[in-house]
Amino acid sequence: MGAVGKDIPHDSAVTHVTGESVFLDDVAPLSGELLAGIVPSPFAHGRLKRLDISKALQVPGVVSILTHADVPGHNRFGPAVKDEDLLVIEEAVFLGQPLAVIGATSQEALEAARKAVIVEMEELPPIFGIDEAAAANSFIGAPRYIRRGDVDAALASSHRIVEGDVEIGGQEHFYLESNISIVVPGEQGQMTVHSSTQHPSEVQMMVAEVLGVPFNHVVCICKRMGGGFGGKETQAAQPAMMAALIARRTGRPVRFVYSKDDDMRYTGKRHPFKAWYKLGLDAQNRITALDARLYSNGGCSTDLSFAVLERAMLHSDNAYFLPAVRIEGRVCRTNLPSNTAFRGFGGPQGVAMIEAALQDAAVALGVDPLDLRQRNAYSDADARNVTHYGQVIRNNVLPELFSTLRAESDYDARRAEITAFNDASPTHLKGLAVSPVKFGISFTRRTMNQANALVNVYQDGSVLVSTGATEMGQGVYTRIRQVVADELGIPLDQVLTAPTSTDKNNNTSPTAASAGTDLNGAAALDACRKIRERMSVVAAGMLGRPEEGLTAEPARITFDAGLVFDTRAPQRSLSFVDVCCQAYEQRVSLGERGFYATPGVDFNRDTGKGSPFLYYTNGIACSEVLIDRFTGEMSVSRVDLIMDVGKPLNPGIDRGQVVGGFIQGMGWCTTEELVYGPKGQLLSYSPTTYKIPNISDVPPVFNVRFLDNPNSDVSLHRSKAVGEPPLLLGLSAWLAVKDALRYASRGGAVPKLRLPATGEAILLALESLPEPAPAVALG
Ligand code: MTE
Ligand code: HPA
Ligand code: MOS
Repeated sequence: MGAVGKDIPHDSAVTHVTGESVFLDDVAPLSGELLAGIVPSPFAHGRLKRLDISKALQVPGVVSILTHADVPGHNRFGPAVKDEDLLVIEEAVFLGQPLAVIGATSQEALEAARKAVIVEMEELPPIFGIDEAAAANSFIGAPRYIRRGDVDAALASSHRIVEGDVEIGGQEHFYLESNISIVVPGEQGQMTVHSSTQHPSEVQMMVAEVLGVPFNHVVCICKRMGGGFGGKETQAAQPAMMAALIARRTGRPVRFVYSKDDDMRYTGKRHPFKAWYKLGLDAQNRITALDARLYSNGGCSTDLSFAVLERAMLHSDNAYFLPAVRIEGRVCRTNLPSNTAFRGFGGPQGVAMIEAALQDAAVALGVDPLDLRQRNAYSDADARNVTHYGQVIRNNVLPELFSTLRAESDYDARRAEITAFNDASPTHLKGLAVSPVKFGISFTRRTMNQANALVNVYQDGSVLVSTGATEMGQGVYTRIRQVVADELGIPLDQVLTAPTSTDKNNNTSPTAASAGTDLNGAAALDACRKIRERMSVVAAGMLGRPEEGLTAEPARITFDAGLVFDTRAPQRSLSFVDVCCQAYEQRVSLGERGFYATPGVDFNRDTGKGSPFLYYTNGIACSEVLIDRFTGEMSVSRVDLIMDVGKPLNPGIDRGQVVGGFIQGMGWCTTEELVYGPKGQLLSYSPTTYKIPNISDVPPVFNVRFLDNPNSDVSLHRSKAVGEPPLLLGLSAWLAVKDALRYASRGGAVPKLRLPATGEAILLALESLPEPAPAVALG
């Protein structure tokens, strides 16, 4: 019995299909509602000389235009460091940075006003790329380090050193619902903010700060998002702040929504990285040392860049034991919208670096890349289970994942077939690669690993649960319902989740780091346990009839299948609803607040040491690719994937996360390319030019299964977080392209491959080979 572990459909499965689900822009215009929009900076870097809004204010339908001078509170904002101007004061630092915000009665009036604003700016020299920024010493903050042992000595005594660098591209979140907020002003400076956000508490705080009111004046509500993927962890705040400014000034409800194109142009993305590596190996092909530099493109302000960089550095080992390590991390300051969280949060970029290094090493050593990976995977033998930051890996499943996938994917036989194919085919190339993932679960900032929940039980036995978790499609509401239903021993359909809202749950963390269910589910569980304890006393009172010699003990009261009974006398049971009614009658509280703080986690940024993660979610994938030698066109023909998510809370939803995460990672690695013009204008700002995977890009053979892991024992019902880790397995597709290039170079130097391996990148790599591809007999 029970709902946990079952394939319960997603809460919104039916309503998404029927169209009943409400996304914010589906809300009909409120009475007196205004639309808000920005006057964007025309330069990526420029000095504002003149901003004349007088003509624009005359445009019919325009109600208000505000500049930085109209901000009643703080114009500077940021989640960690407040270093970005919401409305430009003097210097614009990215193309599209708002110079002013307009409130109008229609989209047409908004557009007309935008054109009527007179902007005079002096263009300043911009910086866009990592190399450019590094050369100009344009960084945000100080370098970060993680070190272990004596890297120089370990490299000096290595049998072999492999050196290289890799350029890792950014990624557009491509959530289907653009950033949006609807703000409704209330009495005495209060505001209700509806936002498509992963982080209602932050939107609440940022809106309060920009308005200059206490936090308790602002309530932020998020019923659901049409996808977030990290892009709404911090950057949902700007639309909310701008709408709030107009709402405060006009006293009218205000809606701010980006068009898809503008959302792509003006909001932050996954951080592009450039990584330099030196990997030392001994005569047994074991890694001796890694000396690496990771530079990220932070964009114009700090946002989450240091947390992202830190996670990249913490994942630079991926699944491999590194005896000596030196990693330097830096964030480059450039004139792009501030880059931000994206599924994996720097982890994928760190892993891309070590996997690129291992792939190069396999070529240099003339060994099979899988042999090399397997040999260097963390293992319990010889204490090879301690990460470069000092965390001991408990219940390590990596060796098992490697050997199981190697067998199930038929790797060795396919390797031989692919070698034969590449020898014979004049037109096509195949590649095959395996990559694992070991993803650390917990926010790396200790404080953020907390959650609270509110559970209300009503007199009819139905339950409403509220937590700080936001629903973005990943199924956190459904999972929390499952956990609550089982804890109270009632059918799932008796439990609903309320829209996430800061008036019910305060000081919440973002729904991020894949920890939404772990944290909020545990808090809800805590609340349920307290309610059950009180209900047990009531039930014992109802069951015990001393005059008939019948006793019942609160400690023995069990809740199961909608019934409440003493375990010693299960035949005499009460219904859950009767106990609820009796509790109410006796003035016993049927509501409770729960709290959870992840035990034990800690990481010291200054020393680069500690145990930041409660546990690791693991997985492994094998990808095969087929490449047209003459066009560079590539397709992923087969994927075998095994995921360790402990005991899945909801195998169906978890499977959706695994499949979707892998495909999103594959897109990042293969087809999704951010292309900018010389002025920093994003050229690939729509689905026609920015190529996310579509249904026909899904590998025709795609075997996905879960590892049976009986040792997962630290998280909710022995489950493990699943949201981000599968994305990193998409790297196997990129590595398979690198593998194919190994054949094309026939033992010579393998050309460099940037990430993503677009058709163009592959063709350029093939063209760079000294020998031309063999000619084909035509006709
Ligand atoms: N799945 C869907 N459908 N939509 C999303 O926006 N975001 C991902 C992942 N899976 C996302 C998703 C990211 S970036 C994270 S951190 C987790 O979900 C957050 O939710 P969780 O902590 O509840 O897993
Ligand atoms: N992961 C995701 N989001 C975050 C983190 C993290 O580790 N830290 C701050 N925001
Ligand atoms: Mo996910 S990148 O932690 O929102």
